[in-house]
Amino acid sequence: MILDKELARALRGEYERAASTLSLIASENHASETAMELQGSFLTDRAIEGYPGNRYFPACEWIDEIETLAIERAKALFGAEHANVQPHSGTNANLAVYHALIKPGDKIVAMDLGHGGHLSHGWKVSLSGSIYDCHTYGVRRDTEILDYDQVAEIAQRERPKLIIAGGSAYPRVVDFPRFREVADSVGALFMVDMAHFSGLVAGGCYPSPVPYADVVTGTMYKTMRGGRGGFILCRGKYRDAIDKAVFPGLQSAIMIAAVAGKAYSFGIAMSESYRAYARQVLANARALADTLGKGGVRLVSGGTDCHLMLADVRPLGITGVEAERRLYDVGLVCNRNRLPFDSSSARVCGGIRIGTNCVTSRGMRENEMGTIGKLIVGVLGSEQPANEIKREVRRLCELFPLRDDRVDLGAFLNSTEGRV
Ligand SMILES: Cc1ncc(COP(=O)(O)O)c(C=O)c1O
Repeated sequence: MILDKELARALRGEYERAASTLSLIASENHASETAMELQGSFLTDRAIEGYPGNRYFPACEWIDEIETLAIERAKALFGAEHANVQPHSGTNANLAVYHALIKPGDKIVAMDLGHGGHLSHGWKVSLSGSIYDCHTYGVRRDTEILDYDQVAEIAQRERPKLIIAGGSAYPRVVDFPRFREVADSVGALFMVDMAHFSGLVAGGCYPSPVPYADVVTGTMYKTMRGGRGGFILCRGKYRDAIDKAVFPGLQSAIMIAAVAGKAYSFGIAMSESYRAYARQVLANARALADTLGKGGVRLVSGGTDCHLMLADVRPLGITGVEAERRLYDVGLVCNRNRLPFDSSSARVCGGIRIGTNCVTSRGMRENEMGTIGKLIVGVLGSEQPANEIKREVRRLCELFPLRDDRVDLGAFLNSTEGRV
């Protein structure tokens, strides 16, 4: 690979940053080498519209096979009646579902962004919020667990067309049967956005929403460890509406290179080694939560049932953004996050969100989570000299290298020639 100097410099910088720090960002992962290679492969050249067997271009016999593999594997992996693997992102998957199933101005009931929801669930500054009339539910103040009575109350009052469960910062299991009951009681459709926990569902260590929801959306690049992109699962009766909403409703040409990455990743996710990975992500999250709790860090809802946790840093006399900065200074990368009933702004935040997907992909286990947990406690409480912590983070990075034997980065890391 030949890159220009400027781009090569930035790529090397980013690679070295990633390799010498630990990502605890719950919405990221280190994608498998193969998924990554497929996404950048020669398949990038093709620009094809339509669906397998029903294209608007010639020469699609192999493309059809690739997309069909992705569809069939997604269906088998999650036990779904239909899958659409074309959404370019999680947001696109969500927008396509709305476009398929409801009309502009219709009411949606979704989780409040400040309580762990997502922008694309009708937040006012997003396109979804300007097209649909969104009403939000949250967690209970006393337990910080989803307030299912409030969901039912809002649903009864608003009579929404669509109820959405799932979000980007909720650490507990979602009671899907309960949501289904509420949706049925008001004649609403029920959608689950499992962007965050789809890998755990695939790995069999988080309850599957598929038996309960009319539609489920997901992303490949968080717990799935499969590279970029989104997908939609639905009941057979919504198949045509969903497919039409994705293409031609929302997108045109498919990114077949990304779809190949999805086909590969759905296939791998059916293996025992992937299931072991997913179990380890969860075990690591529990171990990290345990160490943080023992170190005096308050976790929202008292812990976690998935790959992520929310730490309340306000009792430590600091803000989320300050915690984020201090942790990054020592090589621990996690993001500030608003907490339920948090009065601070989204730029400041009262907490941080911590996830174990990336460190598990680097091969770490409970033992290392204990070490990382103590380091976080040391940083947040300013109890341990920063240099000592930095050294320890470096040691972990060297012991658990980023993609050591999984991808050859030599090609672009050495490519400083000034030709493109
Ligand atoms: C719950 C949820 N849905 C959707 C998305 C959006 O995915 P994308 O960034 O691929 O559009 C995210 C991203 O973090 C998310 O957390």
